[in-house]
Amino acid sequence: MARAQGARGLLAAAALLGFLQAAASFDVKDSSGNVCIMADMTVAFSVEYNSNGQKEVVHFLLPQNATVLQRSTCGKRNTSRPILALGFGAGHSLSLNFMKSANQYQVEELIFHYNLSDKTLFHNSTEGKVMKVSHKSDIRADMGTKYRCVNSKHINMKNVNITFSNVTLEAYVANGTVSINNTECAEDMVSTTVMTTTPRQTTSQVPTTSPAPTALPQNPAVGKYNVTGANGTCVLASMGLQLNVTYLKKDEKIGLDLLNFVPHNTTSSGTCGNTAAFLTLTFEKTRLIFHFALNASTEKFFLQGMNVSTTLPSEAKVPKFEASNNSMSELRASVGNSYKCSAEENLWVSDKALVNVFNVQIQVFKIDGDKFGAVEECQLDENNMLIPIIVGAALAGLVLIVLIAYLIGRKRSHAGYQTI
Ligand SMILES: *[C@@H]1O[C@H](CO)[C@@H](O)[C@H](O)[C@H]1NC(C)=O
Ligand SMILES: *[C@@H]1O[C@H](CO)[C@@H](O)[C@H](O)[C@H]1NC(C)=O
Ligand SMILES: *[C@@H]1O[C@H](CO)[C@@H](O)[C@H](O)[C@H]1NC(C)=O
Ligand SMILES: *[C@@H]1O[C@H](CO)[C@@H](O)[C@H](O)[C@H]1NC(C)=O
Ligand SMILES: *[C@@H]1O[C@H](CO)[C@@H](O)[C@H](O)[C@H]1NC(C)=O
Ligand SMILES: *[C@@H]1O[C@H](CO)[C@@H](O)[C@H](O)[C@H]1NC(C)=O
Ligand SMILES: *[C@@H]1O[C@H](CO)[C@@H](O)[C@H](O)[C@H]1NC(C)=O
Ligand SMILES: *[C@@H]1O[C@H](CO)[C@@H](O)[C@H](O)[C@H]1NC(C)=O
Ligand SMILES: *[C@@H]1O[C@H](CO)[C@@H](O)[C@H](O)[C@H]1NC(C)=O
Ligand SMILES: *[C@@H]1O[C@H](CO)[C@@H](O)[C@H](O)[C@H]1NC(C)=O
Ligand SMILES: *[C@@H]1O[C@H](CO)[C@@H](O)[C@H](O)[C@H]1NC(C)=O
Ligand SMILES: *[C@@H]1O[C@H](CO)[C@@H](O)[C@H](O)[C@H]1NC(C)=O
Repeated sequence: MARAQGARGLLAAAALLGFLQAAASFDVKDSSGNVCIMADMTVAFSVEYNSNGQKEVVHFLLPQNATVLQRSTCGKRNTSRPILALGFGAGHSLSLNFMKSANQYQVEELIFHYNLSDKTLFHNSTEGKVMKVSHKSDIRADMGTKYRCVNSKHINMKNVNITFSNVTLEAYVANGTVSINNTECAEDMVSTTVMTTTPRQTTSQVPTTSPAPTALPQNPAVGKYNVTGANGTCVLASMGLQLNVTYLKKDEKIGLDLLNFVPHNTTSSGTCGNTAAFLTLTFEKTRLIFHFALNASTEKFFLQGMNVSTTLPSEAKVPKFEASNNSMSELRASVGNSYKCSAEENLWVSDKALVNVFNVQIQVFKIDGDKFGAVEECQLDENNMLIPIIVGAALAGLVLIVLIAYLIGRKRSHAGYQTI
């Protein structure tokens, strides 16, 4: 049931945001046909515009059939820089202008042109101009590597927000061959402060010899975690965490790895942004990254994405395990309040990975006095509360009926007695 709920949340989010595997890939080639820029990414735009005196916000994705425009270039050695310019719809375009230093390259500037005359995107737009916004970016990678960033990167400009996710990008590609090695972005990075070498605890693991667990492990202990940025604490959480991974063993059988996070051996780190916050929890060789987002129009925070990486037991065919999901919609509450759930929740990351959360209370973005605000209880808890209420109401109703029946009965017999 709980799993179905996770899947439902996923579908709802996907339907709402249209975030169904929308990654699109593009190449720029030089005159001899060698690739010099490659990009594979999901880009979400949100644009505010005027419509009959009112402000409207429209959300859309860079379409997969966007075209690489003529003005894209590999750049000349030291006279001009590489540009990836993508066009779509009625005269909209996104340009990534690159530059390099001694050993790194970066997207120096990001330029977005949008055509307010396009009524299919900007319904009832009052203006008809082509608008331009631009921003410096910190998307950078080592020369000879791909830039790789699974988590979302938000770029806020006047009237326009652009969110990049699931990005693989390389400029200054050498000899037309895309590099094998990656430069991971900060958003995806493990906190490097802790590298425990203790072996995985066997007590917190189901015997993996049989796929059907005989003895369920205990619930994980509740840990308290927080992330503090320049403007104070932006994530405050109290929860028990259990990771459930199914994997293929060397003998082709299915193994199941259940791992409880031990709070005092778990380290937390993260970053605070205006509309995105990341909480990274590392326990032994397992890392969970929670990506929280802010829905500015409803003033709610929610868990938008999760990234799981772990090392599986030695009997696993592939020891490294990774999974991520960037279209989640869980742990949702109004900004300033906290989300609370006593029931176990199963966060669906992939077919192979579930993150089970126990006794969670969490608040993101706005946390007054470093304490949890008003509680918003989860649906599962409310349903559990509802049963005693219904039973109680039914009992009260029954008592009332019996009482009325008794009073009527008494009146009747009384009246009958008098007439005789
Ligand atoms: C990321 O992009 C790749 C390639 O475009 C795609 O196969 C993969 O499913 C995407 N992952 C997510 C989480 O969207
Ligand atoms: C962009 O993000 C900012 C800050 O998160 C928000 O206030 C603004 O409304 C957003 N603008 C659009 C057009 O979505
Ligand atoms: C791109 O795809 C959209 C639908 O996804 C379609 O309406 C549009 O005509 C396509 N554009 C081109 C240039 O193929
Ligand atoms: C380009 O740079 C190289 C060395 O980096 C230099 O020798 C050459 O003169 C430069 N060419 C121009 C046109 O600036
Ligand atoms: C803007 O959109 C309008 C309506 O679709 C179109 O006629 C016009 O050519 C577009 N402008 C540019 C610069 O593409
Ligand atoms: C556009 O304006 C008309 C009337 O002014 C209104 O009926 C319609 O709902 C508006 N469309 C959108 C998408 O806002
Ligand atoms: C690229 O080509 C140059 C000369 O054509 C060669 O010296 C160099 O080793 C090549 N680099 C790679 C990574 O293949
Ligand atoms: C990739 O990284 C590994 C480890 O840092 C290094 O040994 C290897 O040479 C790199 N490969 C390339 C093609 O740069
Ligand atoms: C772990 O995941 C497997 C497969 O998704 C599922 O059958 C099992 O019930 C899960 N166990 C727990 C404790 O979440
Ligand atoms: C925590 O880690 C330390 C070593 O870093 C180990 O001695 C201790 O047993 C661990 N505690 C738990 C509860 O796993
Ligand atoms: C901190 O708050 C100020 C004012 O509200 C804001 O301009 C700034 O972007 C915030 N910085 C961060 C890192 O959130
Ligand atoms: C955040 O965590 C640190 C270290 O675990 C702790 O000292 C601090 O009190 C916590 N802050 C809050 C507001 O809970």
